[in-house]
Amino acid sequence: MRVDIISIFPEYFAPLDVSLMGKARERGILDIHLHQLRDWAHDVHKTVDDTPYGGGPGMVMKPEIWGEAVDAVIDLGRSAEGGEPSGSPRMVVPTPSGRPFTQEVALEYAKEPWLLFAPARYEGIDSRVVAEYGTRLRVDEVSIGDYVLAGGEAAVLVMVEAVGRLLPGVLGNVRSVADDSFAPGAMANLLEGPVYTKPPVWRGHEVPDVLLSGHHGKIARWRRDEALRRTAANRPDLLAGPGRDALDARDRQV
Ligand code: ADE
Repeated sequence: MRVDIISIFPEYFAPLDVSLMGKARERGILDIHLHQLRDWAHDVHKTVDDTPYGGGPGMVMKPEIWGEAVDAVIDLGRSAEGGEPSGSPRMVVPTPSGRPFTQEVALEYAKEPWLLFAPARYEGIDSRVVAEYGTRLRVDEVSIGDYVLAGGEAAVLVMVEAVGRLLPGVLGNVRSVADDSFAPGAMANLLEGPVYTKPPVWRGHEVPDVLLSGHHGKIARWRRDEALRRTAANRPDLLAGPGRDALDARDRQV
């Protein structure tokens, strides 16, 4: 997967060299290209923002600079060595006003050959940028949660990691993706339950007997019960929604 990120803080993405994402990059599974937005600014001060029409606090990022940057990055991607990927990227604009980024969206993005992230600072990017690229590309305005960050960069880090770990060959154990909290399938809408490793007793706390029993059926049932308990305690909204239909008769007694 090719990932382009245009930002006034490309150095913010240094963590993508580390751990699982770093390995995915080394192995060519994740091909990340960082771009400094100010390279497309025209004045000596490399200004990228201006005051908002209609008044109000803060500054808004200028459309011409974003337009030139996005056009150039798309051209670069299209003419990249090896000719891959062709076509157009899916453009992702992080904003607290966007649609929620969920595991479902991460799975959808993981199927894309090319993502282009446009994280904003200040009060956001002039809205005509999304309008313009929406006529030519698939553009998503996406929020990673109901809180406001200082800029979209941290949201991009979150999304790249959530998507990157889903790419084939990135995780050692493919099953761990299927068992994730929020993963579709048998455990859809359930949070993952508690996990344990050796020793069997630590500071007086024992590993639940069932996990040492070797009885796979009982272990699976226990894990599901624990997942239900944790979901009811931490995220009752997940059980209250349409996902409740997925509960079996035994689940409802937990
Ligand atoms: N930029 C600022 N806050 C954000 C959020 N919650 N999600 C995505 N981008 C953001």
